[in-house]
Amino acid sequence: MLKRGSWRTRFGFYLLAVGSACGLGNLWRFPYVVGENGGGAFILLYVFLALAVGAPLLIAELMLGKNTRRSVIVATDVMGQKAKQPFRWVGRLAVLVTVVVFSYYAVISGWVLHFMTQFFISLFLDVEGAANKTNLAALMSNGWLQLMLASAHILITVVVVLKGVQEGLEKWISYMMPLFAALVAILLFKSFSLPSTPEVMRFLFYPDFSKLTLSSLGHALGHVFFTLSVGFGTMVTFGSYLREEDHVPTAGFRVALVDTLISLLAVVMIFPVAFQASNVPLTDPALMFEVLPRYLLGIPGGALFGLAFFVCLYLAALNASIGLLEVVVSNLVDRNKKMERQKATWLSGAAALSLAILPALSSSVLKSVRINGRSLIESLDSLLINWLLPLVALGILWAFYKGTSEKEKEISFIDREKFVSYSMYSHWIVILKWVAPAVILIGFLLQVVALFQNVY
Ligand code: PHE
Repeated sequence: MLKRGSWRTRFGFYLLAVGSACGLGNLWRFPYVVGENGGGAFILLYVFLALAVGAPLLIAELMLGKNTRRSVIVATDVMGQKAKQPFRWVGRLAVLVTVVVFSYYAVISGWVLHFMTQFFISLFLDVEGAANKTNLAALMSNGWLQLMLASAHILITVVVVLKGVQEGLEKWISYMMPLFAALVAILLFKSFSLPSTPEVMRFLFYPDFSKLTLSSLGHALGHVFFTLSVGFGTMVTFGSYLREEDHVPTAGFRVALVDTLISLLAVVMIFPVAFQASNVPLTDPALMFEVLPRYLLGIPGGALFGLAFFVCLYLAALNASIGLLEVVVSNLVDRNKKMERQKATWLSGAAALSLAILPALSSSVLKSVRINGRSLIESLDSLLINWLLPLVALGILWAFYKGTSEKEKEISFIDREKFVSYSMYSHWIVILKWVAPAVILIGFLLQVVALFQNVY
């Protein structure tokens, strides 16, 4: 395990924080959420919220970790004692949400694993055989296969976390990510040359506000928190490893900016392909897996390209999963000094595995279970990300805000060398105190209204 405050280099922090933020949320989830919410207007709302609300909250979480040198449960307890307010539930809820998200994330990572192996096999097959291999329907109808793949992913994550954060995949992934960036750039270039591109650009960047629904604000906020890894305690843990001299606002803002840019690249890359395959619903969680493999196999060298792409995507998913599991483990160990790290890691993995059963079987054995017209996996996604995550993010924010004195906040934020001025600091405070809570509450209210409209 890392000793507190022991990132060897500043680069080490960015690698982990950006690695945790950029994952399936950007490439898999963002495109279909954009499709669900009608395109351009939603993207505008999303980018605004990511930078105006997500980044300030990300900074607050990092600071909470850096100032207390603890993970989220103990850190929010400390805040509660200082503010003499009951914040005990916040950290516990954050860790609970993290375990459940990890289990669900493992199922989707399992899908990535599946395409990775299928692309490998299709290297040795003719085009038709390859097309059969990369068929999504076969995977969707086989829940046990999904569960097996999710278990394999959880096991891999457990083994990596047992080896420790720094030693783990850090080096590997730093070598692979430039390759991933190059693959995405090539794919971007290719999909840009498809005839559907002008239509796609209009869909993505011409904001038609009439397409927004009552739930869009809640969906945008939920996704901002999910993709920035805010509201889980991940950033509190990462912040607790920062060095004394690291400037938190700069680090937090950079992470938010990079993550947002990658999400934008993902939609620009995937939508031309999705529009080309006109019969695919843009709102389906399987969108990326439905359109990319089919498209890749249609281009020369596509099988090899697809293999490289899915290997990189899997590494990104693994990196994000390490962040998720690491939060749970570091909280268990922080709170319960007697628990060994090894035992905590296996226990968390086992909990995630048992929770993964429901989402893994959702498109097969449990297909007929529908809540308010949605499948089990979609309902779980919505409950976790659109409802619980903003609530936990608000709780952590409130604990930090109340338990940290004005002076402490100011000292941690302002750095004359970095030209962070007093006015920036006061904007941040206004966002934490008024804007973020108001936006989150309005998002909730509108979602409640939408829910009632749906049901009645
Ligand atoms: N931010 C990650 C993604 O977009 C998901 C994640 C959340 C990872 C929390 C770690 C912790 O895929």
